[in-house]
Amino acid sequence: MTESSIAQALARHPRQDLIRTPTPLVRLPHLSERLNLDLFIKREDLTDLALGGDKPRKLEYETAKAVAEDATILVTCGSTQSNHARLTTAAARKLGLKSAVVLSRDRFQAFQANLLTVYLMGADVRFVDTEDHWDLERHVLALCDELRAGGERPYYIPVSGTTPTSCLGYVRAGLELADQLEADGIQPDAVYTPFGTGGIFTSMLLSLRERGLDCPVVGVSVNARLEKCRENLEKWWAGLCELLERDRARPRGAHEIRDEFIGREYGDATEGCLDALMLMAEIEGILLDPVYSGKVFSGLLADHAAGRWVSGQRLVFIHSGGTPAIFAYHDEIKRHLVKRGRTIDA
Ligand SMILES: Cc1ncc(COP(=O)(O)O)c(C=O)c1O
Repeated sequence: MTESSIAQALARHPRQDLIRTPTPLVRLPHLSERLNLDLFIKREDLTDLALGGDKPRKLEYETAKAVAEDATILVTCGSTQSNHARLTTAAARKLGLKSAVVLSRDRFQAFQANLLTVYLMGADVRFVDTEDHWDLERHVLALCDELRAGGERPYYIPVSGTTPTSCLGYVRAGLELADQLEADGIQPDAVYTPFGTGGIFTSMLLSLRERGLDCPVVGVSVNARLEKCRENLEKWWAGLCELLERDRARPRGAHEIRDEFIGREYGDATEGCLDALMLMAEIEGILLDPVYSGKVFSGLLADHAAGRWVSGQRLVFIHSGGTPAIFAYHDEIKRHLVKRGRTIDA
């Protein structure tokens, strides 16, 4: 299959414009010098919808379906500090729709960060008590029934916004990244992405391979162990190949999913993650988050410390956003700064 054929296959899927693209791909000069690498960052945190992140790209394809179905309200779910709830609500408002979100109650329930923004944008917020925010579907489906009974036409978007359709957004992002790398003459030695549900990872893997980029793609898991991640990879790969009319048996090239940076559980701000946050902030003035981008960067740094990447090798780090979470993690971040010798008078 040729490059234009994937672009053509993608163009056959309706998309709502929610953000301006491309997002910047920039070199990190100070960190590159410090680590003796050639380090690049793809600023997916800068998508211009309600504090940015990966979700708008996914929602561009899902909301196109919602609009085609004449939905009146987008309905989704997530953790208390869900980025996805923030951005689904913002997308709904941008399209003149309502939003309802089911959130799992956890220790981050302060009126702060993502949760504050969700209330500010007027979402109908329902909290449920559950241990597992990845398993909220039955609660959301019940809410959809309730909304239907009240005369609404709900459109349900699953946790994290990941479906084969929404993955098209990250196929588009992967093609965009390939264009930028080509334009700047950069041949990466590896691309590091987050692995939550695996939507970003799988879609970028597919699109980079389509464009002939054969470097390892490294997915850093933020919640699930390897077996579950591999299951997800198969699911999204099959779904995407079907939507884009690709042969699903096509070679995937070098790729890895890493589950050793999760810590105790999803959202655990590990030492490595907080150190990665500090380093990026102090050296480059770029803010990462303790749930997603900080973990991915901690994985990259751990590989570097282990001697995997040496002199001048070129790495691309996908910053998928999530930055508002730093306000919910202020205690952990403060403790960590003090532990590392910073004096804080606040
Ligand atoms: C900031 C951020 N990065 C990454 C992810 C994970 O993306 P995926 O589920 O496509 O692996 C999420 C999902 O919630 C997110 O909010």
